Amino acid sequence: MIDVVVGAQYGSEGKGVIVSEMARRNEYAAFVRVGGPNAGHSHRAFNRKWAQRMLPVGWAHSGPASLLILGRGAVVSPDILQKEITDAEGYTENLRNRVIVDEGATWLQPRHESIEGKIYGDLHRMIGSTGEGVGAARRDRMARNISQSTLMGQRREDSMFLVGDTVEMLDDIRRGNSGSDILVEGTQGSGLSLVHGPWPFVTTADVNAAGIMADVGIAPGADVRVVLVARTYPIRVAGNSGPMFRELTWDEISTRTGKVIQEHTTVTKLVRRVGEWDPGLFRRACILNNPAWIALTFMDYVDPDLEGETDFARVMRSHEAAKFIANVEEIAERPVLAVGTGGPEWSVAWSS
Ligand code: GTP
Ligand code: MG
Repeated sequence: MIDVVVGAQYGSEGKGVIVSEMARRNEYAAFVRVGGPNAGHSHRAFNRKWAQRMLPVGWAHSGPASLLILGRGAVVSPDILQKEITDAEGYTENLRNRVIVDEGATWLQPRHESIEGKIYGDLHRMIGSTGEGVGAARRDRMARNISQSTLMGQRREDSMFLVGDTVEMLDDIRRGNSGSDILVEGTQGSGLSLVHGPWPFVTTADVNAAGIMADVGIAPGADVRVVLVARTYPIRVAGNSGPMFRELTWDEISTRTGKVIQEHTTVTKLVRRVGEWDPGLFRRACILNNPAWIALTFMDYVDPDLEGETDFARVMRSHEAAKFIANVEEIAERPVLAVGTGGPEWSVAWSS
């Protein structure tokens, strides 16, 4: 099977936590990421927190033979990837021989970051972009200017990771015997899609399942299973980042939960915008992604007594949680199989 984890809203749905749990519960032959370092995936492993901007989260639960792949559609910052490999190396075996970057992946270079200027640049002011240079790197690729190196295969050899044809590798795994599962980790969320999102407040790729798979180079098929991750309260990055259904304040969330809550972005540390559950956005994400099942995170914002809960039956005993889940299942016409409850361990309750 090929599991594809996709965000249902504007990112920060907690895909990192769900991917990490899935990697713990199943043995995958390969973990794949596309997209760029403008997304940070938080997860917990080895008694600490991690915020992964390049390396697939699954590395932390990967066997010594499983591959960690940055696919052909990825936008790769070698510096950030090298730093993450160095950080992770003491915790897992044989890492340098298992990280494989596609030779055709886009090479993110310092000049791209300078063009966009991070959160001090025009793009941040105009559309709330994180300005990491991912869009500038993709534009370079589209310009097809042969005088500029653009692809990862055009770099000199690197001692920290391998560079190769990941489409062939993944195809070999896909055709292999049963048990050769692949986990594809999406970045950002359906509502940020270049094609399907509220332009111009969008990212520079289609971040829905079909777009992600096209970037990885895995064709559609009956063995592809989409997992849609949705938050009970969607967020957007800080600033002028686009339309939001029934926007709230963190004060309002704090009053509702009886706890002081304020979220900051993983990469830029700015205060996030937050809003009420948006049924229209979620329905559209279901149409675009045809999920097999839903992971619903931030249930601790709906019922604070559930914080850290891992027992699904107990989650369902909460009237508010059960009602919320029923509503989500009705829209999706698919089951909620995992519920995120936060707490110090970033807990998840699984229905089986
Ligand atoms: P992006 O591609 O950047 O959107 O990644 P992501 O979906 O992996 O999300 P990210 O890690 O950026 O943000 C999610 C944050 O929410 C992290 O800090 C998680 O620790 C936290 N989180 C995840 N699930 C839950 C949950 O159920 N409850 C609470 N309270 N926090 C959660
Ligand atoms: Mg993030």
